[in-house]
Amino acid sequence: MYRTNTCGELRLSDAGREVTLAGWVQRTRKMGGMTFVDVRDRYGITQIVFDTDNAELHEAANKLGREFVVQVTGRVTERASKNPNLPTGEIEIIATDLKVLNRSDVPPFTIEDDTDGGDDLRMKYRYLDLRRGAVRRNLELRHRMAFEIRRYLDSKGFLEVETPVLIKSTPEGARDFVVPSRMNPGEFYALPQSPQTFKQLLMVSGFDRYFQIVKCFRDEDLRADRQPEFTQIDCEMSFVEQEDVLQMFEGLVKHIFKYVKDIDFAEPFPRMTWADAMRLYGSDKPDTRFGMEFVELKDLTEGSGFAVMDSAPYVGAIVAPGCAGYTRKQLDQLTDFVKRPQVGAKGMMWVKYEADGSIKSSVGKFFTDDQIKTWLDRAGANPGDLMLILAGETMRTRKQLCELRLEMGSQLGLRDPQKFSCLWVVDFPLFEWDDETQRFYAMHHPFTAPNPDDIDMLETDTGAVRATAYDMVVNGNELGGGSIRIHDAKLQDQMFRLLGLSEEDAQYKFGFLMNAFKYGAPPHGGLAFGFDRFVSILAGLDSIRDVIAFPKNNSGRDMMIDAPSHIDDSQLDELCIRVDIPQEK
Ligand code: AMO
Repeated sequence: MYRTNTCGELRLSDAGREVTLAGWVQRTRKMGGMTFVDVRDRYGITQIVFDTDNAELHEAANKLGREFVVQVTGRVTERASKNPNLPTGEIEIIATDLKVLNRSDVPPFTIEDDTDGGDDLRMKYRYLDLRRGAVRRNLELRHRMAFEIRRYLDSKGFLEVETPVLIKSTPEGARDFVVPSRMNPGEFYALPQSPQTFKQLLMVSGFDRYFQIVKCFRDEDLRADRQPEFTQIDCEMSFVEQEDVLQMFEGLVKHIFKYVKDIDFAEPFPRMTWADAMRLYGSDKPDTRFGMEFVELKDLTEGSGFAVMDSAPYVGAIVAPGCAGYTRKQLDQLTDFVKRPQVGAKGMMWVKYEADGSIKSSVGKFFTDDQIKTWLDRAGANPGDLMLILAGETMRTRKQLCELRLEMGSQLGLRDPQKFSCLWVVDFPLFEWDDETQRFYAMHHPFTAPNPDDIDMLETDTGAVRATAYDMVVNGNELGGGSIRIHDAKLQDQMFRLLGLSEEDAQYKFGFLMNAFKYGAPPHGGLAFGFDRFVSILAGLDSIRDVIAFPKNNSGRDMMIDAPSHIDDSQLDELCIRVDIPQEK
């Protein structure tokens, strides 16, 4: 037996027991002739004491280096100076035996909660980073959540079914990762962006309630909440309408919040139409932990002769409560913020509604105080508040105002990661027009059903048709999304045509699904949650990387195993592939 107990387990009630522990040396300290060694394993840290009574043992302890793997035997004893920050902080082990099970090179960074290792270094040595309690706890949470999600869905009659990873390339949305087939030269599999078509086929097969905690792959630009391979909680149900799906999965999210955070959401999650979300927050994933909704001012600013506002189809504002005291420097910084290329505004206007009721503004040349007062009144501003205004093309300006609102929310401490605000965004448009390619794209995916009330508009007012699609948004993050699907082959044909797919194209890409629909497809719908996002939100983290054991960096590279990498010419030959990299790459 390597150990009788773990390093996180022993308490004062164990005093007097003879125990053996095994783990890694976190650090050693010499004090008053004694040597103290902190030994760590997955469960915690226990202090071991080597006194001078046993000179040989003491000497051996002094030779221990950081991250050596050791086995220690000794007696559990009450500690003179207790450490209230450590679960084992009331005891220590007076060592009677020490075995070095393995030595370690000096690690490239300190393996403690507060490490000195930068991101890149920790990614390269991820296996060491994973020894840190902070990172390990995220993976423990991930495990507990996956387990509880499975338990919950099982109790609701869902079956977990695995779907293939080598599938057919049907790029829509993101780019596919592709895999060459040796046995079929010149042909490629794609890795699934999601199991979307397979779960729909399972509904045709009568599986009725499906789920899968499943890896998905998307070759897209990476951000804090995006990885090229990520995990979905993918779900589908038959004989359901939108309301059934929302109820079922709101239940799951509430259950997990209760289970992990002991938070009860007594009320149903609010629902907001996509149009309202864009109008009030400039985003389809509004952070509703705080207010500061947009106020539209175009009609009140008309005809002043101020070209910035007169020439803009949209003038919108937010009111930052209690910020009338912002200095020139603070306002300049906000202007710089909105002018950054990532935000892209040309400038920002402001109005200070001073505590004494007077008005100061950057547009005083063009408007009287009375005129400006009508803006403040519409916004419900109070003396002491600051109004920030942007003008320009409608959708673009709303997005810029959204960034400004989030920035103000952060500056005012209104985006507390331990506060949770969930909502459903519903009534998404079915299509999105792309100016560059002059065609419609599916906003969600091509299998999403139109809102039954809008079917008549499919041919006549295509862009205005609403989808039966919904997203779950938590604290400004898209946690999940889904839709009721088209289950009628004719309507699906029409959808493909509106998306600019020829009949042959549609047949080539999705013929298998169209064929299946000929054999009695039930009405069905579902959704998928981003599991990594779910865990990181509950852990209060900014990046999903921290909840993935072996994540990729922002260039899609695994720094530890150094992938992607070149492959041998012989491998390429076997696959009949010639690599021809253009000069500029
Ligand atoms: P969608 O594309 O909205 O829907 O994806 C569902 C959820 O998956 C998460 N997600 C990601 N997480 C990390 N990295 C990424 N690159 C990434 N991309 C998406 C998000 C998102 O809300 N088949 C449909 C679902 C359905 O209709 O049932 C789908 O994949 O949290």
